[in-house]
Amino acid sequence: MPILPPNPTLADFQTYVRDMEVERGFDEQTVMHKCLLLGEEIGELFKAPRKTNGLKVDVTSQIGAADEELADVLIYLCSIANRLDIDLEAAFRQKEAINHNRQWTKGIRGLTVILGISASGRENGITSEAVKAVLEATEQPYEFVSLAGLQINGCRGCTGCAGDNHCVVQDDWLAIGEKMREADAIVFGAPNYYGTINALGHACLERTFCFRHREVFSLAGKLSVVVTVDGGAQNSAVGDFIRKMMQSNLMSVVGSVYAEGYSQCLTCGYGLDCAVGGVVGRYGFLEKIGPEHCPPRFAEQESGVFQAYKVGKTLGSILRARF
Ligand SMILES: Cc1cc2nc3c(=O)[nH]c(=O)nc-3n(C[C@H](O)[C@H](O)[C@H](O)COP(=O)(O)O)c2cc1C
Repeated sequence: MPILPPNPTLADFQTYVRDMEVERGFDEQTVMHKCLLLGEEIGELFKAPRKTNGLKVDVTSQIGAADEELADVLIYLCSIANRLDIDLEAAFRQKEAINHNRQWTKGIRGLTVILGISASGRENGITSEAVKAVLEATEQPYEFVSLAGLQINGCRGCTGCAGDNHCVVQDDWLAIGEKMREADAIVFGAPNYYGTINALGHACLERTFCFRHREVFSLAGKLSVVVTVDGGAQNSAVGDFIRKMMQSNLMSVVGSVYAEGYSQCLTCGYGLDCAVGGVVGRYGFLEKIGPEHCPPRFAEQESGVFQAYKVGKTLGSILRARF
């Protein structure tokens, strides 16, 4: 008589069931036969709670306790796996690795989730306006987040994420990272600071390092839109960096938007006659800074609005066709 050892592994269960079937003469039964029996047992398992929940049951039907029915289900699972030469533990681990990487969207089933991120230090600056314009044009459900005021550290390179694609650094990025993982598309906007992407935007994207390990790419296949803003210098470094990060996460870039930001010197209070400031650099010493010296808000930027509408509409169409 086969003996199940104490603290059995799944492999022990499989061995026990195989030996038990030989002993009881069930070993000649086919996979199909076993699958039908499993189906019956699952039906009985479903019936068990009817009894305990006081639902009406056929008085003539035999209804076992849930623990007994579950044990029967396990026996049939093992016997089917044995016939198919499947190591249940290995199969379980493999499937969970895949499930772990799936997007379990919290949105309504069938609806996509687009995440808009503004990495500007100013919550309601041009970057936020431009990102929101793209989101609106998608005509899809979206969530907008501003990184302004969040504590986002750079990647430590500790590789604490290598085993499960989850960052171990405890800061505000973790929530942003989870939103990125759940989104179907990401619209990422960042301003130009000193000729490159601002530190907040860089840190946020740097941390996506955790999403790419062991040939598992947690953001793979998601769509993205790149939004960049600067004080008029139209430096491509910001857009190039965002695009590079999207691509290294195996995301597709649907398109880009460029918006004109404004020089901080226009509003710092000293811009009129600060010899090293952006206002004097552009217009010379002024009596007064007037609207003619200030770039338009995003909504008045014809080119930026056009680009945002065009790429947002495209993104929305692709997502609608995809889901
Ligand atoms: C620290 C800092 C550095 C900046 N460096 C540049 C720069 O090198 N080139 C440029 O064109 N604009 C530069 N800017 C201007 C910003 O790109 C511009 O203000 C933009 O509108 C900021 O985006 P926001 O409106 O979303 O805050 C800088 C702004 C700051 C605060």
